[in-house]
Amino acid sequence: MNLNDCWKYLIYPPVDVDDEALRSHFAGKWVVVTGASSGIGEKLALRLIGVKAKLYLIARNEQKLNSLCDLAKSQGTEAHYTAIDLRDREQLDVLCRDLPRRLPCLSFLFCNAGKSIHRTIHDSESRMHDFDRTMDLNYRAHVSLSLALMPSLRIAGGRIVFTSSVSSLYPSIPGWSAYHASKCAVNVWCTTARHEFKSLKVKVQIAYMPLVHTPMADVDPQYRRMPAYSADEAACILLRLAMSRKFSYRPWWAWIMKIGSHFGE
Ligand SMILES: NC(=O)c1ccc[n+]([C@@H]2O[C@H](COP(=O)([O-])OP(=O)(O)OC[C@H]3O[C@@H](n4cnc5c(N)ncnc54)[C@H](OP(=O)(O)O)[C@@H]3O)[C@@H](O)[C@H]2O)c1
Repeated sequence: MNLNDCWKYLIYPPVDVDDEALRSHFAGKWVVVTGASSGIGEKLALRLIGVKAKLYLIARNEQKLNSLCDLAKSQGTEAHYTAIDLRDREQLDVLCRDLPRRLPCLSFLFCNAGKSIHRTIHDSESRMHDFDRTMDLNYRAHVSLSLALMPSLRIAGGRIVFTSSVSSLYPSIPGWSAYHASKCAVNVWCTTARHEFKSLKVKVQIAYMPLVHTPMADVDPQYRRMPAYSADEAACILLRLAMSRKFSYRPWWAWIMKIGSHFGE
């Protein structure tokens, strides 16, 4: 093992999930995955298809969603999709009215679709839309879906699992104000819901995900070269969290970064 591999092993310890365990938690249950057309969400959908979960997939890329649904059906499970821009409030309202009727009993809602923007505030002087778009997708759309699907989740004793970012735990890194603000909003919603939902049958969980090699992260050549989890491994992190009693996943080194970030303030 060379130094690079050791570093990767330490910071990103391998993660996997057993198919038998997956099957016992997900087979035959309805699961909604947003952002299912690419990266982490796509791998998540593929693992769930493999254990015959019933899927409802959401993203913009219709061709991709359609072929995932075809694959699911060819493997003997049910799958549907809605191709939608989750930032479009009118389309989102229609989906939020429609989904509870189509899924009256929902076991898992993975709030995973996301957009990241790396741009300083100074360079955003005429780009208010960057802040609106990240907030609308990363935060507002998922709160909207969660509220609409609460009755269906209550019936199943279901779970809402958010994909957040570990860097939003120490958010003052230059260039990430729009992305981190939207993920911090998610973090606050989840920690509040965690307490509010105690008397309900619905559980909320959040993954503070570290770097993952996906189309989102790999647009930046610097991130492309860095050690990171694969999208498969990140999907396993979400699945393991969804099968556990824990409220959150965060990499073991998150607390060190958090302390370090106080010195940078
Ligand atoms: N990659 C990382 O290093 C990393 C680290 C921490 C957290 N995360 C989080 O992980 C989640 C998944 O990201 P990823 O890395 O897998 O990125 P990705 O490969 O770019 O996937 C993003 C997904 O979100 C969907 N999406 C984007 N804009 C949308 C819109 N307007 N309406 C509906 N769907 C939309 C995309 O589908 P369409 O383009 O088809 O719409 C795609 O399926 C995100 O919430 C991200 O913030 C990623």
